[in-house]
Amino acid sequence: MSQQQHSAVPDAAANEGPMGGVLIVDFGAQYCQLIARRVREMGVFSRITVPERAMFTLQHMRPKAIILSGGPRSVYAHDAPALDAAILEQGIPVLGICYGLQWMAQHTGGEVTPAKEGAEYGRTRLDVTDAEGLLAGVRQGGTVWMSHGDKVARLGQGFEVLAKSEPCPFAVVGNRTKGFYGLQFHPEVAHSEDGTRILQNFVRDIAGCPADWNPGDLAERKVAAIAQQVGDDGEVVMGLSGGVDSSVAAVLVHRAIGKRLHCVFVDNGLLRQGEREGVEELFRDHYHMDLKVVDASERFLGQLAGVTDPEQKRKIIGRVFVDVFRDEAKAFQKAHFLGQGTLYPDVIESVAAHGGATSTIKSHHNVGGLPEDLDMQLVEPLRDLFKDEVRLLGREIGLPSSLVDRQPFPGPGLAVRCLGEVTREKLEPLRGADAVVREEVEKNGLQAGLWQYFAVYVPQKTVGVKGDARVYEDICIVRLVSSQDAMTADWELLPADVLRRISNRILNEVAGFSRVCLDISSKPPATIEWE
Ligand code: XMP
Repeated sequence: MSQQQHSAVPDAAANEGPMGGVLIVDFGAQYCQLIARRVREMGVFSRITVPERAMFTLQHMRPKAIILSGGPRSVYAHDAPALDAAILEQGIPVLGICYGLQWMAQHTGGEVTPAKEGAEYGRTRLDVTDAEGLLAGVRQGGTVWMSHGDKVARLGQGFEVLAKSEPCPFAVVGNRTKGFYGLQFHPEVAHSEDGTRILQNFVRDIAGCPADWNPGDLAERKVAAIAQQVGDDGEVVMGLSGGVDSSVAAVLVHRAIGKRLHCVFVDNGLLRQGEREGVEELFRDHYHMDLKVVDASERFLGQLAGVTDPEQKRKIIGRVFVDVFRDEAKAFQKAHFLGQGTLYPDVIESVAAHGGATSTIKSHHNVGGLPEDLDMQLVEPLRDLFKDEVRLLGREIGLPSSLVDRQPFPGPGLAVRCLGEVTREKLEPLRGADAVVREEVEKNGLQAGLWQYFAVYVPQKTVGVKGDARVYEDICIVRLVSSQDAMTADWELLPADVLRRISNRILNEVAGFSRVCLDISSKPPATIEWE
């Protein structure tokens, strides 16, 4: 996400979505989204905002609790994120995590200094001195995960120690009267034992947030909101990719306005086997949606001809998609709304706290990529949901598991798995090999342990022998990875007989390969896709 895209959704996000819940102020923490997810997993709505906008968001959202995240800076640095200290005067309980604790100490009369010997990175044990309230049910000597260079040297007014750790005397502190608490460690990460318990004690018991956030119950509310936004005769045009997000969004919009939704599916010639047919069958035949399928493969492959640089390939595909979609959308003259499957991680107002855009590893392209000059109002029913919440919602509205639980497929499609120039001659065998990998994994019920499983075309000739003849053909790579969130990934093995069948079938059923290899690289340093 570029900074520009973030600033395109400035304060709008603050005054939409449910009221109450937990407001999380992002000081640039690596784990901010994890905090938000942990809170939602306990059935409480949470929203992330940047420090600069926290007071504005607070006024609209009226949270019942505030969490101040960790962050990479020092509270004394000249460029430390600026949060209005009035946030401590709202009568709302506040939990500061790491930097958040230090910020609270600094603004309540305490003192923060560089930690030197007090710096802690990694695991440490918690010595609980007060097992009431925030630390109720938290085990003595449990492991927690720290990562801080500064430390609180003197507590703020009214604070007392609730737990310490070696060498941190203020591991957990609290001011019960005000409802202010601070943790020097990260409760949101899985390595912190009882971390979820501590968050739950704060959110549910201390702040009294009711557990009334259930994405499963959302469908009807979403449908009503769409109907209200679009009105009695408004029309929506929407790009459908066949992925989870756009599918769930389309079904919700369709429930709200029926035939006034016009879906466009762009076949870019880079799809997997059966993908276009699957979309037609589900959305046109089953849901009876107005679905226009555009075969734009000539246009995409024409623009990609002769291009071998991965970044250039991605950019071309993104650009051509916008062009094609714009042309198609024009046909629906009465449609003043553009439907999109934008998710919460795409709109989180976090970029400023991180000090600008992080380094671009690959420029991602999604079907939701908005032609900015379309001048249409956005309908984005999923913009307050995380991916797993969208899956829940998808199940709730009856989408098949084959769609809701399907493996991610990148926007640029097979182009990023077809090394070098993308041509029909290479895409055809790649599609065949990919279908074999998918079929064998799914037939054997092995997909549950895998994040993605697919084939890659490497245009490097190697010698083989087929029949009695010598052949000189290309390489097919099989990529099987497990992952939680695609940020990191491990390579995986399948039972030998399944691997053997995959290899035999690719070499026998698909023309063009003389060799099948398995990619045993984790991410990092490799990425999941090959380009
Ligand atoms: P990498 O290859 O960066 O991929 O490890 C991480 C995850 O992102 C998917 N991916 C994309 N998804 N548009 C998408 O919608 C893209 O341009 C894109 N590139 C990579 C990839 O499949 C993996 O799940």
